[in-house]
Amino acid sequence: MRSVIDELRAKNEFQIVDRKVTGHFELAAVCQASQRKSEAPILFQQVDDSQFKVVTNLYGSRERLCRLIGADDGKFCRQWVELIKSGGKAKNQNKVKSADIKRQEINLMSLPQITYQEKDAGPYITSGIFLAKDPDRGIPNLSFHRAMHVDDRELRIRLGTSHHLTHYQLEAEKQNEALEVAILIGAPTPYVFAAAASIPKDESEVEVANRISSQEILMRKCQFIDLEVPAETEVIIEGRILPNIKKPEGPFGEFKGNYIPMEDNHVVEVLGVTARENPYYHSILCGSTEDMRLLEVSIATQVYKRLSETLPGIIDVACVPNIMSTVVQIDQKYDGHARQVMLTAFGSNHDFNKSCIVVDKDVNINDFSDVYWACMMRASAQNDVLLIPDVPGFYRDPEKDHWGRLGIDATKPWGRQENFERTLVPGSDSVDLNSYFI
Ligand SMILES: Cc1cc2nc3c(=O)[nH]c(=O)nc-3n(C[C@H](O)[C@H](O)[C@H](O)COP(=O)(O)O)c2cc1C
Repeated sequence: MRSVIDELRAKNEFQIVDRKVTGHFELAAVCQASQRKSEAPILFQQVDDSQFKVVTNLYGSRERLCRLIGADDGKFCRQWVELIKSGGKAKNQNKVKSADIKRQEINLMSLPQITYQEKDAGPYITSGIFLAKDPDRGIPNLSFHRAMHVDDRELRIRLGTSHHLTHYQLEAEKQNEALEVAILIGAPTPYVFAAAASIPKDESEVEVANRISSQEILMRKCQFIDLEVPAETEVIIEGRILPNIKKPEGPFGEFKGNYIPMEDNHVVEVLGVTARENPYYHSILCGSTEDMRLLEVSIATQVYKRLSETLPGIIDVACVPNIMSTVVQIDQKYDGHARQVMLTAFGSNHDFNKSCIVVDKDVNINDFSDVYWACMMRASAQNDVLLIPDVPGFYRDPEKDHWGRLGIDATKPWGRQENFERTLVPGSDSVDLNSYFI
C-alpha cells in the first residue's frame, strides 16, 4: 500500500487533512462528505492520539484501479482475466530484504479506533484482509472481513456463509481446532485485488497476488502462527478464530446502507500485533465508493469471466449504481443475444446480481444515468424485461426481501439498430470550454 500512497502523494492526488480529527464519527463524516464530491484519496495526518496516519478512499476510483492493474483502455475485468491467465508482468527484483523492513510490536487497541455509523456497536477494522490456510489441503486464501474491536486480545468478525474462510473455519471446527489467521491492514495492492476477487477454492490467492504483481513481494514468517505474510504490510495481526464460540457482534452499518443487527458471530483471539515504523492505517467506510469498487472487483470479474468464456461479444461488466445491480456491455451478435447474457450472468453468481441490465457498446456502463437512459429509450417495458421469480438473491435474506431476478434488455432492438443510432454533436467530447468562456 505504501508504494501506492507514495505515488499518489507525488502526483498531488491526495486530499490532506492536517488538523487533528477524532475516529469517533468525524473521520467517517469527512470521508463521506468528500466522496460526495470527489474520488480523491484522503490522508488524515493525526487521528486522536494515534501514531498512525490514516488513509481512506485509496481504491475508491475505477480509473485508479485500472491504472493499478495496467488496464489502459479502462476495461478492468478484461485486464484482470488476462493478468490471471498470463501470469502478469516480469518481476522487478526487490533490492530490500524483508528483515530491512523494521517492525514494532504494538497493542491491538493502539490502532486507530474508528467508529463509522451512528448505530455501530463501536470501533471496527474495515480493511482487514484475512490470510488463512485450508486445514486439509494447506491452500492459502485471502478475503476481507470486518472486525469489531473488543480489547487487546479479542476481535469479533462476520463470516458470510459462501466465503472460503468460512469453509476453512468449519473444517477446523470439526476437528475442534482453532483456525490460524493473519489479518493484514495496508497489504501490497496485489493482495488487495486477490482478496477482493472471487477465485476458485482450489487456487492459492497468495500465488495469484504474487503472480499479478510487477514487483517481487517479500514475505516474512509470522511469530505466533504458521503463516507467511508480505513483509511490507503496514499492520499484521496474528490470531486464531476460536472453535465453537460465538459472541455478540454489531450492530454495524453495512454496504447495503442499513444496519445489520447484533448477532452472535465468530471470535478471533489475538496473539500479537506488529506495525511498520511511521505506519499508515487503511480505513474503508462501508457502503462508500471505495467499498463498492472493491466489491465490484469481486462480482464484476466473476460475471465477466463466465460470460466471456461462454458467449461472444462481451465487452465489459460493471456494478452500478451498486453491487446488487450488474450491467453488461455487449457487441450484439444475434437476435436474443442479450437474453442469453442475462441468464448466464444470473447463473455465474448466485448472490448480489439481483438485476442484470444489458446495453450496447455506445452506453457508458459506469454511469447509471446513461444505463437508465438506454433502459428508457431502447427497452420495451412489456417485451424486454425478464422476471425470474422464486430465486434467492442474497445469502443473508431470511425474509426473502431479495428473492427474484430482474433482467432488462436495453440493447437496440435487433434488426432495427439503425433507428436507435445515438445522436452525436461532433467535437463535444473534446472541446476545451476554457477557451470559449470568459
Ligand atoms: C471492504 C470489504 C469488506 C468486507 N467485509 C466482509 C465481512 O465482514 N464479512 C464477509 O463475509 N464478507 C465480507 N466481504 C466480502 C468478501 O471479502 C469477498 O466477497 C471475498 O471475495 C470473499 O473471498 P473468497 O471468495 O476467497 O471467499 C468484504 C469485502 C470487502 C471488499
